[in-house]
Amino acid sequence: MGKPTTETFDLKTYLAEGKAKVEAALDRALPVVYPERIYEAMRYSLLAGGKRLRPILCLSSCQAVGGSEAIALPTACAVEMIHTMSLIHDDLPAMDDDDYRRGKLTNHKVYGDDVAILAGDGLLAYAFEFIAVETKDVPADRLIRVVARLGRAVGAAGLVGGQVVDLESEGKPDIPLETLHFIHNHKTAALLEASVVCGAILAGADEDAIARLSRYAGNIGLAFQIIDDILDITSSSEVLGKTAGKDLKAQKATYPSLWGLEESKRQARQLTDEAVAQLAPFGDRAVPLAAIAEFIVSRDR
Ligand code: FPP
Ligand code: MG
Repeated sequence: MGKPTTETFDLKTYLAEGKAKVEAALDRALPVVYPERIYEAMRYSLLAGGKRLRPILCLSSCQAVGGSEAIALPTACAVEMIHTMSLIHDDLPAMDDDDYRRGKLTNHKVYGDDVAILAGDGLLAYAFEFIAVETKDVPADRLIRVVARLGRAVGAAGLVGGQVVDLESEGKPDIPLETLHFIHNHKTAALLEASVVCGAILAGADEDAIARLSRYAGNIGLAFQIIDDILDITSSSEVLGKTAGKDLKAQKATYPSLWGLEESKRQARQLTDEAVAQLAPFGDRAVPLAAIAEFIVSRDR
């Protein structure tokens, strides 16, 4: 096999097709029924666009170890539901108090804080129900592992833990690098990693493959955050679809504030190279994963 070759791979089309598939599945997953207001609030954020990177990674990982896209689609939708709910709650006045997300008013700005909290809760619970009910042709032991892995990535050992340390670190521009790593390994990398690992578990990957994919995803998760921090400085609100320049204004510790822009770019590149190196045993089946890693480090939004 050997290192996947990405030169001839059309990532743009691959991502556009993946996004369309995931969005169609999300649309079908959540029809509006009584009480309409909560379903509308859930759909408002779930169908607000975005790169859909986590679900696409879940599908690509499943395929990299020989599984079909169909067995991973419900889990792919679930990780996007969880990601969306974390953003709804992150934007609340009690947290980051943001007005715009994905180029639209934030959920609480449209539906109020009360409904926004409930929309997040509804999406979180539905994500797990959706995996359990909608996944077909996968042995139950794999499904249980997926639910456990995802639950861990979301709770205090993952997203929630990262968010708490992030909130505690607000207004402290001099936090140590280990704390910054902790925040992002939990707040950002944990769900990206779970998306990839769960795709592989569904396909019945062996432990070595899962460990490699976990390292791949952990690395791109951190690279993703470093690039996010860089773009907060170098990009604009129009391009990002959310408020740019926020970190500086909030005197937030970021990778560029600790390392400077150039070193941050170098670290992101190194993490990406190490991530791609993990994919060698999967050969050409991992071309999409390799190309996504390159995309993350070179993205401009
Ligand atoms: C965005 O970070 C926020 C996150 C990646 C997740 C935050 C996690 C929570 C609010 C916990 C949610 C609760 C559960 C149960 C999962 P950011 O504020 O650095 O980035 P932004 O500029 O996109 O807002
Ligand atoms: Mg935020």
